[in-house]
Amino acid sequence: MAFKTLSALISVVAALQVANAAIIKRVTCSTGQVTSNAACCTLFPIIDDIQTNMFENECGEDVHESLRLTFHDAIGIGSNGGGGADGSIIVFEDIETNFHASLGLDEIVDTQKPFIAKHNITPGDFLYLAGAIGVSNCQGAPQLPVFIGRPNATAPAPDLTVPEPFDTVDSILARFDDAGKFTPAEVVALLASHTVAAADRVDPTIPGTPFDSTPSVFDTQFFVETQLRGTLFPGNGSNQGEVESPLQGEIRLQSDSELARDSRTACEWQSFVNNQDKIQTAFKAAYAKMIVLGQNTQNLIDCSDVVPVPKTLNKAATFPAGLGIQDVEQACSTTPFPTLATDPGPVTSVAPVPPS
Ligand code: HEM
Ligand SMILES: *[C@@H]1O[C@H](CO)[C@@H](O)[C@H](O)[C@H]1NC(C)=O
Ligand SMILES: *[C@@H]1O[C@H](CO)[C@@H](O)[C@H](O)[C@H]1NC(C)=O
Repeated sequence: MAFKTLSALISVVAALQVANAAIIKRVTCSTGQVTSNAACCTLFPIIDDIQTNMFENECGEDVHESLRLTFHDAIGIGSNGGGGADGSIIVFEDIETNFHASLGLDEIVDTQKPFIAKHNITPGDFLYLAGAIGVSNCQGAPQLPVFIGRPNATAPAPDLTVPEPFDTVDSILARFDDAGKFTPAEVVALLASHTVAAADRVDPTIPGTPFDSTPSVFDTQFFVETQLRGTLFPGNGSNQGEVESPLQGEIRLQSDSELARDSRTACEWQSFVNNQDKIQTAFKAAYAKMIVLGQNTQNLIDCSDVVPVPKTLNKAATFPAGLGIQDVEQACSTTPFPTLATDPGPVTSVAPVPPS
């Protein structure tokens, strides 16, 4: 009995020492910032540079493109080869940004390249640092993880690893499973990214057309608005991968529309509506899995504490003015759609995201 108590006490003390070691592990960098690992100190000057000279401290187009770039790089892995989250989309820009699904990403790659050349960092580490720092400018976003230590990419990803908006739900879920054993719930969580997003090329006559009414806020409006009945095309009419949206100035991808309505994903999709905690934790967890695809995580250093804590969002989700529960195409058969207020005032149209 006494022995048991003693050994219990020893394990409590041991646990406390471990916790304490974790707490006191702090390095003050020569630039003054504090981080958990001296190897992360090199990131602070890069962060200052990109915040000032690339993102302008905003959640604008370059942030959206930088986030999209993390996905198109990381998903380049699977049964047909590819190195995953290795920065190959930058190193082999001429090959990978000419794949149909990644057309247009040459712009952000060309924006990022001079910053990589100026700082001592591999393209892979830079690309995921830029994604996390950029997203930290979006109100309501989670503080995304950052890992460094990726070697230079040595080969391009093969074509057809990036899902297209005209792909079926079957093929999208199969691709994510093949790339990294992502579950359907994780696929839905990753699509939270479309809350800070717009399309330039789906309808090229209306570049910068957002997927929700608040493209600079990491809120759950994307999950609300994709569940509303589509009534109009914001531009030229039906394009490949586009279906009708509920709002002037807003574009809806066929893939988002179908994932919101498929029996495998609809309840998960709806569960994000007005659930700010969930959009943060679920996106962060799935994103953490995505950014190390193909990497040996034993060789990576966790520098997540260099990422600024994003501004919190204290606003409930709403139906856009003029719309309400009667416009919801209920797809989850087990849980009713959450009760939301409707924005006051006249029906409005969503403004495009200005080019950076
Ligand atoms: C089923 C999977 C997905 C499909 C079919 C898809 C498709 C698309 C398409 C067609 C665009 C518009 C591109 C343009 O015309 O400029 C877009 C934009 C975007 N996507 Fe996705 N996407 C998917 C998943 C993801 C994931 C997992 C992420 C990130 C984790 C992501 C992040 C973004 C962002 C941030 C944008 C906005 C880019 C900007 O505003 O410039 N997407 N996506
Ligand atoms: C990556 O390649 C660049 C340019 O060739 C080189 O300067 C750098 O040292 C390489 N980094 C690593 C980690 O191999
Ligand atoms: C739609 O696109 C087609 C083909 O590019 C073009 O001929 C037509 O003028 C466009 N219509 C509108 C309304 O922009």
